[in-house]
Amino acid sequence: MLGNEFRKGLVSDLVKLVGKNQFSAGGASGGGAASGQEAAPGSKGASGEDAASGEEGAVREPALVLGIETSCDETSAAVVAGGIRILSNIIASQVDLHRKYGGVVPEIASRKHLETFIPCVNEALEQAGVGMRDLDAVAVTCGPGLAGALLVGVTGGKALAYGAGLDMVGVNHLEGHIYANFLDAGPGPALRGEHTQQARQGPAPEFPLVCLVVSGGHTDLILMKGHGSYEVLGRTRDDAAGEAFDKVARLLGLGYPGGPLVDSLAQKGDPDAVALPKAYLEEGSLDTSFSGLKTAVAHVVRQGSFSPEDIAASFQKAVASVLADKAFAAVRRTGARVLALAGGVSANSELRRTMLSSGERLGVAVRIPPPRLCTDNAAMVACAGYHGLVRGLRSGWDLNALPNLAVGDESIYLGAGGI
Ligand code: KG4
Ligand code: ZN
Repeated sequence: MLGNEFRKGLVSDLVKLVGKNQFSAGGASGGGAASGQEAAPGSKGASGEDAASGEEGAVREPALVLGIETSCDETSAAVVAGGIRILSNIIASQVDLHRKYGGVVPEIASRKHLETFIPCVNEALEQAGVGMRDLDAVAVTCGPGLAGALLVGVTGGKALAYGAGLDMVGVNHLEGHIYANFLDAGPGPALRGEHTQQARQGPAPEFPLVCLVVSGGHTDLILMKGHGSYEVLGRTRDDAAGEAFDKVARLLGLGYPGGPLVDSLAQKGDPDAVALPKAYLEEGSLDTSFSGLKTAVAHVVRQGSFSPEDIAASFQKAVASVLADKAFAAVRRTGARVLALAGGVSANSELRRTMLSSGERLGVAVRIPPPRLCTDNAAMVACAGYHGLVRGLRSGWDLNALPNLAVGDESIYLGAGGI
């Protein structure tokens, strides 16, 4: 686990950060202290008085939320206004560090998070032109993810919130991914060369919506009936979609992280070149399975009769078509108005193309965040946290890292009978 010297270093850095920004004049809106945030941080949720007080009055508008994300191999801090406008979204990737091991090494990830946490928060505040005391709350990913990695963000987020007298709310990483669909991606890089008309997504998506969360560890089809109301309709029975991409990348000798490498290799291949199996499982199932596909790719690679480009393109097409069929089946079954994509794999060009064209053909509104908001980032965490805060949700100072946290698990909030 993390050594004492690391912890001491982190604490003194946090103290400096809160102190340094204490009298910052750079706020986009009035100071948090003036809005009564000073009194007993976190006590609103603790007393339960503000809990479930509805959309009105639970937070000052437009609330400035500092989001923190450290669940895997990206240290990220962001400031988001009113749950929608991204003022900053700093992402420090550890990819170069883990590449030589062919995957994320948890202990290395935790230590790197410790090093990058404070610089990331500093840069996020600076870019947003605010100090800690200008903020209304801190939202931090508390699970699921790597225990040690999560612990850095949770501990740092709690310390920052406590020191600056702010509310603090834990965020489920997967719910964070879903909330990337509620952010205004704004102009900028998202408008250039991306396979999406949703660079500026317009008004928030309407409920009920079906969300396909496809990340390195999850492939979940989730019905979202309203803010904070989730029903899992299906999930993978073996590999997650991202895991399948990463394994296929390894089979093709592409290295890590696999998804983006398979994606770019596939651009030069023929998606119809290799016939690969698609697992639909039993009639009506919304679950997925990618292990058979991965084994088939391994077999084709060994045979050596197809180019890596054709294999990559065919693999991608097989994944995208199964995911699209399952996702639109979920939309039909639930009568949802919108299909939203979330998680790192939704940055995949073939998946985006397939979803958008199927949506057009079937008359279903499809939302996909721009690629930079699909992969891990703290703006999505701030957005999810904001929507919890307006519903009166807060977390206690005993919030912990929860590596196996499930979607919709409310035990992370005060007064919910949890931790
Ligand atoms: O959501 P994410 O950034 O982290 C997790 O929560 O897991 O997802 C990471 C996963 C990795 O498996 C990565 O290979 C995959 O998303 N990924 C992609 C692409 N970009 C990232 N997979 C396919 N195509 C991409 N363009
Ligand atoms: Zn993620």
